[in-house]
Amino acid sequence: MGSNHKTEFIKNRLDFLENSGLYRRLKTVIPRGATALVNGKEVINFCSNDYLGLSRDKQVIDKTIASMQEVSQCSSRLIAGNHPHFIELENMLASHRRTESALVYPTGYSANLGVLMTIADESSTIYSDELNHASIVDACRLTDATVVVFRHNDTDHLEELIKQRGGRKIVITEGIFSMDGDIGKLSEIQTIADRHDAITIIDDAHGDFILGPSFAGTSAELGVNFDIHISSMSKALGCFGGYVATTLPIRELLINTSRQFIYTSALPDHLCSAAITAIPIAKSGHLQRRLRCNIVYFSSALKRIGFEIRYPTSQIIPLIVGKETQAVELSDQLLNEGVFAQAIRYPTVRKGQARLRISVNARHEQKHLDTAVEAFKKVGKKLGILE
Ligand SMILES: Cc1ncc(COP(=O)(O)O)c(C=O)c1O
Repeated sequence: MGSNHKTEFIKNRLDFLENSGLYRRLKTVIPRGATALVNGKEVINFCSNDYLGLSRDKQVIDKTIASMQEVSQCSSRLIAGNHPHFIELENMLASHRRTESALVYPTGYSANLGVLMTIADESSTIYSDELNHASIVDACRLTDATVVVFRHNDTDHLEELIKQRGGRKIVITEGIFSMDGDIGKLSEIQTIADRHDAITIIDDAHGDFILGPSFAGTSAELGVNFDIHISSMSKALGCFGGYVATTLPIRELLINTSRQFIYTSALPDHLCSAAITAIPIAKSGHLQRRLRCNIVYFSSALKRIGFEIRYPTSQIIPLIVGKETQAVELSDQLLNEGVFAQAIRYPTVRKGQARLRISVNARHEQKHLDTAVEAFKKVGKKLGILE
């Protein structure tokens, strides 16, 4: 591109990102359960959303390979892509969530877009938690609705705002928040929504198959019933794709009008098979017990060496550093010590709230966690983050 005037803005933007500590560089990563090969080096992996380790489960892999007749259906579901595996998977997901029905989307991202663009119109107001995931933010932006953001988990603020407007009201929040690891105040939100006749939507990408009786997610854990559940199968299930669990009429409306459902190719059917195989393993509960032990062990150890850890914690442990450049430095030096924990920066989190997002998984063994704690101690002290 050289010094071409018309593309100068690109260089300026990249320079700006570099100078603000916000430049992102791709690393090559080959996941190996508790570890990963990062840029060719084997390190302990604290970056995966494969919380239960199911993406490497032998039974899941064998079934997925055995069911693979073609790479993809090469068609959208409404044309020629609706393989019978979808019906089986959606029945399983509906029964998992105890809803009338479920609908699989190619990703959790597109499920969020699909639901909000279908449910919200120009007469609607969407009330969205300020820490909701980027896919919810983008979904809100794509609707014709008015979007009102309430302070994170501040239900007084939600109620103050929800009183102010008429029309169709929609409240959307997360189960386990993706970058903070805390839990949405679902019971309080449900009460407010009921008082104001609002539709409730939960994105439970990180709580699904982790929390609740039968591991049906955060709303099951808290005993509430939101109108629409959205989730991703690329987290605890270790698979791929997104889904919506809800009433039959909402499912029918999504099939008929959701652009993210209609105008895209169907999830390849072998990925449906993967999820069909992973669900009963995830529901058996033994992996969540291991995960819980690892969460308690690791978060207590990090606290003991001086990091501020909020309790009770989930499998997502945020180590808030503050400055973007310092978070990157911490992450880089940890990688040199054999620990992979990515720095998360603006715009994923607020400016000045840069952090390492540590995700513990069920495949970590005590030796991985102990080695990592030593590395955190060494690098934390070296950078003056720990005393
Ligand atoms: C809360 C939340 N919702 C939705 C998504 C998107 O899911 P997917 O990766 O299946 O598109 C993510 C992914 O990180 C997420 O954290």
